[in-house]
This record gives sequence, C-alpha cells and structure tokens, in this order.
Amino acid sequence: MAKKIKILNIAGSPVYIGQSALEELRYNLNTIFASKETFFILVDENTDKHCYPQLVAIVPQIEKAYKIVVPSGEENKTLTTCEQVWNQMAVAGANRKSLLINLGGGMISDLGGFAASVYHRGMQYVNIPTSLMSMIDASIGGKTGVDLYSLKNQIGLFAPPAAVYIWPSFLATLPHRQLLSGYAEMMKHALIADADFWRKLISMPMAVISNWDDYILEAIRIKSDIVNRDPYEEGERRLLNFGHTLGHAFETYSLRNDKSAITHGEAVAMGMICEAYISYRVAGLSHTGRDELVKHLLLNFNHYKIPVEAIDELVEITNYDKKNRKGHAMMTLLRDIGQAVEGQQIEPAMIRESLFRYTNFSESAQ
Ligand SMILES: NC(=O)c1ccc[n+]([C@@H]2O[C@H](COP(=O)([O-])OP(=O)(O)OC[C@H]3O[C@@H](n4cnc5c(N)ncnc54)[C@H](O)[C@@H]3O)[C@@H](O)[C@H]2O)c1
Repeated sequence: MAKKIKILNIAGSPVYIGQSALEELRYNLNTIFASKETFFILVDENTDKHCYPQLVAIVPQIEKAYKIVVPSGEENKTLTTCEQVWNQMAVAGANRKSLLINLGGGMISDLGGFAASVYHRGMQYVNIPTSLMSMIDASIGGKTGVDLYSLKNQIGLFAPPAAVYIWPSFLATLPHRQLLSGYAEMMKHALIADADFWRKLISMPMAVISNWDDYILEAIRIKSDIVNRDPYEEGERRLLNFGHTLGHAFETYSLRNDKSAITHGEAVAMGMICEAYISYRVAGLSHTGRDELVKHLLLNFNHYKIPVEAIDELVEITNYDKKNRKGHAMMTLLRDIGQAVEGQQIEPAMIRESLFRYTNFSESAQ
C-alpha cells in the first residue's frame, strides 16, 4: 500500500485507507466539510495523549475543534458517557450543522457515532480509527451503539459515518494486547470468508508482522464485500457475527465479574473456540478444521478460564443476544475454514455443551 491511498465505498461511506489518509481529511475539511458551523473531536485519555498530537501535526485545522475527552474502556461505552458528550456538545453550541470527529478505538467510534446520530435528530460524524479493531471492523459499516448493564450494544442504530480515515501509523502506540484484540477480528474475517487469508495469517506468528497495511486492506475488503451486499444485517452481514454470541457472553461476564475485563477480541477468540465446537457438532466443520482453528487461537490468546458454575450465567446472557429470533439463539457457524453459514438455530443445551467442553478443556490445559 506504501504511500498510496485506497478509497472504498462501504455502506455509503467513503473510506480512505493508507499513509495519505490524514492528508485527505485535511483536504476534505476545507472542501466537503467547509460548510460545517462547528467541529467537535471525541477522544479518550489514551488517544488524546498518543493520537491527537499526531493528528494535529498533519491536520492543523483540528486544533479549532472543541475537544471532548471521555474515560477509556468498554465499561464507559454507556448512556451515561453519552450524556456527558451530549452535555458538552450542547454547552458548546453543537447543532445539526456541526461535525463530530471520532478519534479512537471501537469504543469511541461506537459511542461517538451513536451520540452524533441522535443529537438534534442527527448530525454528521467521521471516524479516525486508532486501534486495529476499529481500523478493520468497528469504524466501518455504520453500526453504532452503547452497552446496557454490560450487555453489549443493546442501544444503538445503523448510522453510516460521513467518511472514515484509516491511517495505519496510529498503531505504533497501540499496546500489544490491544493489537492482539484486533487480530482476533481479523482471524474471524478470514475464517468466515477467505481460507487463503486464514492460511496467510497462520503461516507466521503475529508478533513478526511489522507492517500491517496489507493485512488491514485485506480484512477491510472482506467486511466491505459483505456489508455492501447487506448493510442492515438482514441476512449475509450476520456472517460477521461468528464467535460473537458466546464472545459477547464472555465479554459481559468478564465486565461483571473481573476486576480487569478481557478485551473484546479476547472474548471473541474464546467465543470462536466454543462456536467452532458447535460448528463441528451441527454445521459440518471437520474435526481437522476445528482443531486447526483452536490451535491457532490458543497460540495467540490466553485461555480465559471460567468456573463450571459460570455456565448458567453465560447461557442466560445469550438470551439477550440481538440475533435471537422468537426466543431462540441464532448463530453463525462454520461449514469449513473460510466458509460460514448464518441463521443457525441453536438450543441452549448445545450452547451449554460447548461451554462445558470449553471449561473442561480449560481445566485440563492448566
Ligand atoms: N460497530 C462495529 O461494527 C464494531 C465492530 C467490532 C467491534 N466493535 C466494538 O469496538 C469496541 C472494541 O474496540 P477496541 O478494541 O478498539 O477498543 P477500545 O476503543 O476500548 O480501545 C482499546 C484501548 O486502546 C487504546 N487505544 C486505542 N488506540 C490507541 C493508540 N493508537 N495508541 C494507544 N492507545 C490506543 C484505547 O484508549 C483503549 O484503552 C467494542 O466495544 C466492540 O463492541 C464495534
């Protein structure tokens, strides 16, 4: 990708990807966004410290934007934080002709996208993702929202950003654990749609990847193809939810029970292990495919250990999954590596069985 820029159209939003992406933003602020009356920039304390100065160095107009800093972390992706954002925007005179610039990981783009989209019945926002997770997934596709009682993304709407600017150099300051978190979604993108990309990912340890540009582009293309065919998740887009029914359950469980919660990607990685087991039991994934998937996930991610007593709570959490239909869990499963099928109705007994296997496996792996 080098210095060049790629421009994709994803669910109606132009997405600029590459080392010149921020120059594109600088230009757009003086052209397509020149009529905006006021500018706001949303950051958390980490992206304020690490990313904001880099952004201002390339896009000096950003200094004129009113800065809103929210505390980092999934536990702050809430309506309470949204209310703080709305209050600050209101006091600073935001209106429908303002623009909100989200500079951060998926927590910031989900929350900021939601906050902007309902403020004054909708003001425009752009995303500048700074984590691998948000570059390849959260910032694109138009899903916005916040959690409710630690249940993931219960409040939100589809509201595409006016544009997305992906500048991979932001990854230089991203902590390794957060890089790994995004890598989990990258593995998922490969697993559901592209066996060749999966082989490429497992052909070398993640730690030796120094230039992420091409990986980012490949992962985005997978999501883009799916989202453009089904922007409102009426069918095919659900493929992207592989690993997420149980992944979200692990994440909610951890937010409620652990002093320091696991990351979204760690939760999705564990969710994929369980859902690979279910795929093997009911969707045709081979024994070999399942074992390969589990092996490579565990090479990268620590096994998140849960006690057997946690299984009831985890199954209960899946009752709140947004994909459920008429009270039944609906999952995306793998038929093969690189080939997924959505809309699979799974009984609680099967979810319980997968978690029981996971728990035993976890105990024997200690
Ligand atoms: N809307 C979607 O389609 C979609 C898709 C996938 C994930 N998500 C959501 O995204 C969220 C997870 O995103 P995330 O993994 O980016 O988490 P995050 O936004 O919480 O960021 C992780 C941590 O990294 C820090 N950080 C981010 N960029 C940094 C940088 N360049 N340098 C230093 N520190 C940096 C953040 O401050 C935070 O502490 C979850 O809420 C998940 O539900 C949404």
